Amino acid sequence: MKNYTHIDDIDDLHSWIEEAKALKKNPLKNQELGKNKTIGLLFFNSSLRTRLSTQKAALNLGMTPIVMNISEDAWGIEFGDKTIMNGSTAEHIKEAAAVVSQYCDVIAVRAFPSLTDKEKDESEEVLTAFMNYASVPVMNMESATGHPLQGLTDAITISENTTKKKPKVVLSWAPHVKALPHAVANSFIQAMQKMDVDFVIANPKGYDLNPEITKNTRIYHDQEAAFKNADFVYAKNWSSYEDYGNISKTDMDWMLTKKKIGDAKFMHCLPVRRNVVVEDAVLDSDHSLVIEQANNRTFAAQLVLKKIIEND
Ligand code: CP
Repeated sequence: MKNYTHIDDIDDLHSWIEEAKALKKNPLKNQELGKNKTIGLLFFNSSLRTRLSTQKAALNLGMTPIVMNISEDAWGIEFGDKTIMNGSTAEHIKEAAAVVSQYCDVIAVRAFPSLTDKEKDESEEVLTAFMNYASVPVMNMESATGHPLQGLTDAITISENTTKKKPKVVLSWAPHVKALPHAVANSFIQAMQKMDVDFVIANPKGYDLNPEITKNTRIYHDQEAAFKNADFVYAKNWSSYEDYGNISKTDMDWMLTKKKIGDAKFMHCLPVRRNVVVEDAVLDSDHSLVIEQANNRTFAAQLVLKKIIEND
């Protein structure tokens, strides 16, 4: 595996999950593997978990991480081809990616969508440009349409928390005050489609995700019906895909509550808005896996980096 940019870069999810669990038991086992190697973490957007867990993963492998808030601290980067750069951008991605490749053995990028231009967001302009112009492997730390490190993490967390052969997993839309991207939901769906789970999606009408991603996964517009016999309920807000990037539903009747989830385990990628997405009584109960999920971000990233280095 050269790059890790999509859940489809996982060739065998079951074996990756087992390998991640083994790394978690002995995280410093491969300290020699990354010795004298550097990973550059480039953030076009905010982060807590991805920023820290990916650095931790690199350190566990003996790598040196260097981090840049690229939108705030670097020159404005131009992504257009043949652009006359007489505007606000000062450096082209062709030079920027080539230069960073000289300092780093792996480049990891976080770049969210605009949520105003579906075609541009789906082209994954930033991630694709790094893949095209960097001479080293590229890792996706959440792009316009996917968050494959989170998707792998969530698969590991479900595997660790079930004894059932085929648990029921529900991805439920939840309310939010802002228009949010589809990336986490997309990668979670793609991961669940590769796992041996009974997987359904629950969202209000007007919030169906990209049908090229949901494929034949069952979609309920009735949250209560979807939650019946659920073992895991994963809450996430996303803005409308059909009415791209917009929010039409603002009432709280889809908020996750203790009563709604019953005996199911609760999952969320974090950060989460308490008493908007989910009530305190869920997050503060032993049904919540959110802290465990965040811990597993380290081992998902460590496994991905290990595979990238071993392939290099
Ligand atoms: N889940 C996640 O990606 O968290 P951050 O946005 O804080 O990195």
